[in-house]
Amino acid sequence: MILVTGGTGFIGSHTVCELIENGKEAVIVDNLSNSSDDVLDKIKKITGVKPAFVKGDLCDKALCDRLFKEYVIDSVIHFAGLKAVGESVQKPLEYYENNVYGTLNLLDAMRKNSVKKIVFSSSATVYGMKNTPPLKEDMPLSATNPYGRTKLFIEEILNDLYASDNGWSIVKLRYFNPVGAHPTGIIGEAPSGYPNNIMPVILRTAAGKIEQMCVFGADYDTPDGSCIRDYIHITDLAKGHIKALEYIEKTGAGCVAVNLGTGRGYSVFELIGAFERVTGKKVNYRVGERRKGDVAVCYADPTKAKELFGWTAEKGIDSMCEDAWRFQQNYGK
Ligand code: UD1
Repeated sequence: MILVTGGTGFIGSHTVCELIENGKEAVIVDNLSNSSDDVLDKIKKITGVKPAFVKGDLCDKALCDRLFKEYVIDSVIHFAGLKAVGESVQKPLEYYENNVYGTLNLLDAMRKNSVKKIVFSSSATVYGMKNTPPLKEDMPLSATNPYGRTKLFIEEILNDLYASDNGWSIVKLRYFNPVGAHPTGIIGEAPSGYPNNIMPVILRTAAGKIEQMCVFGADYDTPDGSCIRDYIHITDLAKGHIKALEYIEKTGAGCVAVNLGTGRGYSVFELIGAFERVTGKKVNYRVGERRKGDVAVCYADPTKAKELFGWTAEKGIDSMCEDAWRFQQNYGK
C-alpha cells in the first residue's frame, strides 16, 4: 500500500487516481487545511475505488507512527505542505513547522517502521533566481522566500538521510507549473480566497468572478515582455509519480532529483491567448507592475525524467486550458 500525504489536494488527488488506475492501493493522510474530503467520492467516481483516508496532521507525531501500524505501507508519496509564497513571508514559522517538522515526523516514522521508499514533492523554486534555463537538476540551488526554503531544506534533509543510510530510495520531484484538471472535469484546482497562481486567476476571470486580472509585468526581457513558464498538465505530472515509484522498484536504493516539466515555455500573454482560443471565452486583463520575486523565464530541461523514468509530458497547452475550464464550469469557485 502507498501512503499519500496531502492526497486530497490538487496534485495529490490526481496522483491517487493514477495510482488506482495502475492497480495500486493508496491510503491518504491529509489535515484538509486546503482541501475537502469530498474529493474522496470524486476519486471513486473517476476510478471506481474510494481510497482509504485518515484525517490528520503530520505535525502529530503519534499519528505518523500510528499510520505505519494500521496500514501495511511499502512506500510514501509526500505532498502535504503549505505552498503560498506570499503567505510564507508573513508566516515563516507556520511554514517551517508544517513543512519541515511535519516531514521530520514522517521520515522518523518511516525509519522506525523500515519503510525507506519516498517520492517527495519539491519545486522548481529550488533553482532560485540565478540559473539560466533550461534548468537542469545539477544546477546550484537557492531559495528566495520561506516556502522555497522549506523545499530546499527538505531536499537537503533527504540527502543527509540517504548519506546516513544507503538503504533509502528517495526521488525528489521538482515540479514546474502544474495546471489543468482531470479530463472528466470532476477534480481540479479550486483554491480558497484570491488565487496565487495564474490558471485559477484566468479561470475566475473568464467565469466573471474576477472582473479584471492583472498581468504582472510586460517589461521583461522576453519576446512579448511577459514572464515565461513551463506549464505542465496535472495528469502528466501525476503520471510522473507513478514512473518515479516504478523507478524506485526497479533500481532499488538511491537519492535523485528529477524535473517534471515539458521543456517548453509559454508567456503569460501566450497562455491567456491559448485559453481564449480554446474556450472561446474572453479574459479581461490589464498590465500591472511586476510581482516581487518573479523570474523572467523558467522552464525545465526534462531529459533526466526521460532517461531515468521513461517519462515525458504528453499533453499540450490546449488540453491544459480545455480541461481546466471544464472543471471550472462544474465546480469552480
Ligand atoms: C509560483 C511560486 C513558486 C511555486 C509555484 C507553484 C511565486 C513567486 N512563485 O510560481 O514558488 O513553486 O507557484 O505553486 O509565487 N501571473 C500574472 N497574474 C496573476 C498571477 C500570475 O501575471 O494574477 C504571472 C506571474 O507573474 C508568472 C506566471 O503568471 O509570470 C505564473 O505565476 P504563478 O502561477 O504564480 O507561478 P510561479 O510564479 O511560476
